[in-house]
Order: sequence, then structure tokens, then C-alpha cells
Amino acid sequence: MNHLQEIAYLIGSVGFVVGLKMMGKADSARKGNLVAAFGMAVAVIGTLFIGENGFYLIPNFGLIMGAILLGTVVGTLMAKRVQMTAMPEMVSLFNGMGGLAAALISIIEWQHIEPGISLGKFIPIIAGLIIGTVSFVGSIVAWGKLNGKIGDFRFAGQQYINAIVLFAIIGAAAVTYLEAIVSGGHGSLPFFYLTMGVAIVYGLLFVFPIGGADMPVVISLLNSFTGVAAACGGFLYENNVMLMGGVLVGSAGTILTVVMCKAMNRSLTNVLIGMAGSSSGSSGAAVTGSVREVQATDVAIMMKYAQKVVIVPGYGLAVAQAQHVCHELENILREEGVDVKYAIHPVAGRMPGHMNVLLAESNVEYDKLIEMEEINSEFATTDVVLVVGANDVVNPAAKNDPTSPIYGMPILDVDNSKQVVVLKRSMKSGYAGIENALFFDPKCGMLFGDAKDSLQKLVNEVKAL
Ligand code: TAP
Repeated sequence: MNHLQEIAYLIGSVGFVVGLKMMGKADSARKGNLVAAFGMAVAVIGTLFIGENGFYLIPNFGLIMGAILLGTVVGTLMAKRVQMTAMPEMVSLFNGMGGLAAALISIIEWQHIEPGISLGKFIPIIAGLIIGTVSFVGSIVAWGKLNGKIGDFRFAGQQYINAIVLFAIIGAAAVTYLEAIVSGGHGSLPFFYLTMGVAIVYGLLFVFPIGGADMPVVISLLNSFTGVAAACGGFLYENNVMLMGGVLVGSAGTILTVVMCKAMNRSLTNVLIGMAGSSSGSSGAAVTGSVREVQATDVAIMMKYAQKVVIVPGYGLAVAQAQHVCHELENILREEGVDVKYAIHPVAGRMPGHMNVLLAESNVEYDKLIEMEEINSEFATTDVVLVVGANDVVNPAAKNDPTSPIYGMPILDVDNSKQVVVLKRSMKSGYAGIENALFFDPKCGMLFGDAKDSLQKLVNEVKAL
């Protein structure tokens, strides 16, 4: 490799690492994204214009530029138009494209293999094919499920079938290799495509049964698959920056998956065989009791004279785009001497870090966002908890109803506080599609309406007091 190209790849790799590190904090995340994008741009330029003997133009330059242009236009338009609430769908779709690209690399390279291919060369090709295909098919199903076009599909004993299909992929890959070695030829296409076919089946079976609240874990897992598939391409082409990018995505995705599995009390094995959150098929025990509706005036009085208020943001805050007025309420209460904090559940909203991003947008101080593990012990000393468009993440069924699909998922223990007020539009369920007994708790009051309107009313009422 030319030294100049090595330098370009080094800059690219450093850009990825530094960018990723900066993305760990809300205030530097935007810049981190730009740093990583800069690294990628340098790496791409290094590939397009630097060859073994210095500057050159890569073959198929026109085609490559055409594809880059098309991707840029489509990607930019989609990113500009997407609603914040539809981000996970878009992430899933884009992730699927990464998986498809990795699988296509393997398909092309398989047709160029030398007779008597070594295992070292075979593994990245076949792993890129399998992982890329599973990631592509799984991501497209996840995209369809998130936007409601595809429903859950499962049958009795599916986890066994999924496990068998997983072994069948490995078997088909082994046969593909043996056939290539025995025939001493350029590799058989039928066995190669058989492996791909079984991987497609696995991608479908793996994501189809995954229900409601567990989709974020699957998306994160698929994301890490795409990273690993891209890393296989890096091995294949002995391209360090591709390898580095793939490894970073793969490892970051895996860490996120493990963190989310822990946050939702799910087993990674169950997610891998596509059975997370689908074991009971039940929607939990029936909830009885009456609901107490409250008015903004009463809630404003409660909060103004409270010592400590904790705000629990959820998906509804994003839907209502109520982050700015929420911050305004926080400021007004703080001026009144109230201690105000935010309780952040790891899967509140529809994507990892959704609430952090939303609240950072309205300049809420980062140290006011308290993670679940830390804030849970504080609810007992909290006077008022204001739940803004959150539902599943405060559902006590996760603690006390073994028949509930979210049983075992750690939640924000808001029911330990003195008073709870929930801001939502109706009694409808949240993402997991289940009733919430919290709303029937005598210490809970429901302030019905769009979260932005309700928060605005609270701001006006507190000011008027
Ligand atoms: P949810 O349980 O989905 O509840 C959101 C609530 O917001 C709904 O009950 C809805 O009730 C209310 N709402 C919607 N629009 C509103 C508006 N304009 N004004 C006021 N309220 C509004 O949300 P959550 O508590 O944040 O929990 C997140 C769920 O999504 C979990 O089950 C999680 O597993 C899942 N999930 C998370 C992710 C990640 S990674 N964060 C990704 C995908 C799925 P009304 O309709 O009655 O208003």
C-alpha cells in the first residue's frame, strides 16, 4: 500500500475513534459526528485517488461517483424529512443497506476466488455473506414492524426451529468450503447461494416473532451485525480503515445490545434465537379501579409548593415536541426554590438516548438528567413526579405481574413517591400495548391532553400563582 494512502487511512481511523468518543456526551455528540464523517471522507478520498504507485483514479470512478451522489441525495432528503419519532425506522433501514452492501461484496468476491481457496480467505467471504444477509433481511423486517406494516409472527417451538436454522447456516457454509476445496475449482455458486438462502430464512425467523418493547435490542444487535460484516470486508481487502470502522460499529453495537438487554432484563441468547419478549403472548393481568383526573391548576399548586419534583420524559414528550416548554417549567420551578431533576430510563422513547438528545436540544443541563439506577432510590423523597408522555417505563407490572410481557424489565419506581401526575392524551397503552396499573393508583392523577399544551398550562398556572 502507498504511504500516502496509509496516512489517509490512519486519519480516517483516528477520526472514527475520536468521533465515537465525543458521541458519548450530549454536548459534544454533534461535533463527534462531524469528526467521524471527516475521517470517513479522508478514507474515501484516499481510496479513490491514491493507488500503489501514487496518485491515480480508481477504476469505475464514474459509476462510484454516481452511486455516491445518488446515496447522498437520497440520504440527505430522508434525514432532513424524518420525524424524530420515526428515527429508529430510518436507522433500521440504513443499517439494512450496510448489511446488503457487505453481502454483495461477498457475492462478487466469491466469483473471483482462486482454486484451492484458503480458510483464511474463505471465512471473511462467507461470514460477510451470512452476517450481511441476516442484518439486511432482519433490518427490513424490523423497519416494517416499527412502522406498523409488518405484524408479529410466531409459532409453537419456533425457538428450536430458529436454533436449527442457525446450525443449518453453519452446515451450508462448511459444505460450500469443502466443495470448493474438493473440486479444486472456483467455488460452487449453488452451495454459496444455499448458504445465503438459509441466512435469509434465519433473518426472517429471527425478527418476526420479536414483540413490542424488545425491538430496540434487536435493532442494536442488527447494527452490530452490520459492523462485523463490514469488518469482514476489511479483512478480505486488507483494508485497515474498513476493518477499523467495522470493528468499531460491531463492538459499539454489541456493548449497546448488552446494556439494553440488562436494562430490559432480557437474555441475549433469547434475542439471538428470536424469542425475546414473546414467551407468554399475554398482555398481563387485568387492571381494575378508577382513574382520578386532575386539572392544571391543582398540579401547579402541588409543584410550586413541593421541595422536590422529578420529571419522567417518555415517547409522548417527543411526539408533542414539548421539550422546550418542559425546560421552561423546570426553570420556573427552580426559581421558586424547587429541586427539579429528570429521570432517564434507558429505553424511554424510541431509540437509545432519545430523551437525552431531546432534552439537550432544549438546553436542559446534562447533570440534571439522572439515570434510572441512581434516581430510583430518590423517589421515596420526591414530592411530585411528573410523567410526561411516558407509559411502559413506569409500569409497575414489570415488577409485580409475572404474566406481563414486560415482567422483569427494570422500571422507574415512580410509585414510591408521594404524588404522581401523568400527562397523556387518553388511557391508551404505550409501545408494549399493555394496561398500566399506575394510572389507577390512588396517589396518581391524570392530566389529559397533548403534553405540550398541558405543560404550557402548567407554566402559566405556576406563573400566575
Ligand atoms: P410508551 O410506553 O410508548 O408510552 C408513550 C405514551 O405517550 C403513550 O401512552 C401515549 O399515550 C403518550 N403520548 C403520545 N403522544 C403524546 C402527546 N402528544 N402528548 C402526550 N402524551 C402522548 O413510551 P415510554 O414510556 O417512553 O416507553 C418506551 C417504549 O418504547 C418501551 O416499551 C420501549 O421498550 C419501546 N421502545 C424503545 C426504544 C428505545 S431504544 N428507546 C425503541 C423502540 C421501542 P396517549 O396516546 O394516551 O397520549
